Amino acid sequence: MVVIMVGPPGVGKGTQGVLLAEAMNSRHIATGDLLRAARRDGIELGRKAQEFMDRGELVPDQLIVDLVREVVQKMDRDAGVVLDGFPRTVSQAEALGGVLSELDRKVDVVVVLEAEDDVLVKRLGGRRSCGQCDMIYNVHFNPPKQDGICDRCGGVLTLRPDDDPATVRRRLEVYRRETAPLVRYFNDAEASVCRIEADQSVAEVQRAIWDSVSE
Ligand code: AP5
Repeated sequence: MVVIMVGPPGVGKGTQGVLLAEAMNSRHIATGDLLRAARRDGIELGRKAQEFMDRGELVPDQLIVDLVREVVQKMDRDAGVVLDGFPRTVSQAEALGGVLSELDRKVDVVVVLEAEDDVLVKRLGGRRSCGQCDMIYNVHFNPPKQDGICDRCGGVLTLRPDDDPATVRRRLEVYRRETAPLVRYFNDAEASVCRIEADQSVAEVQRAIWDSVSE
């Protein structure tokens, strides 16, 4: 199954994408995580992406499409995948459709997570991420056992550079302009689109997603 997670920054795509992929025994591919890993590893893609990410803008479509194509083409044909944060523009969605059809596959479900801006801003202000393993915490809702330290790998937890209030506002604008139109795109393409109220506990959102995906 190919599942796409769509939603504004902070709505819980990463949190739920990991849980869904575990439940489906599928691969979780988050383009934001891939780009941050490329930056950490000092590879060319990360260097090119950095200035866009720091400004809260989208990385150019071609860089992202090439990255995802490479990962998807290497996957086993029958392997399930949860795509988190990709596609983010109609042009990326069209490119994904092309890559999948070459592999005789298609998008099976589009999960759209929704919440009000004040919820997103609070979540992003409280998010702390592990610089080593990308595990996500929240000082308000899901704190680590030891302040500032990752429960899983002992790495140091930091605020993501693009989670400062001005960059969050910019990311929300970019989402509305570039990414929100995807919901209509997938509806028009008669994909199975599930809209989920994400202003609920992690467990409630997880259950709602599972009910929709397994219908
Ligand atoms: P990316 O890393 O994908 O960031 P994003 O889309 O802005 O989403 P976030 O990671 O901020 O939030 P999320 O929805 O995953 O929420 P999370 O689960 O962490 O992309 C970063 C940048 O990379 C982009 O700005 C762009 O520059 C570039 N990029 C990436 N993909 C691209 C693409 N396809 N094209 C072009 N550019 C691309 O949760 C947030 C917080 O809330 C956490 O602390 C979490 O613990 C907490 N939380 C989650 N769920 C709940 C809940 N139900 N209740 C309470 N707290 C919760």
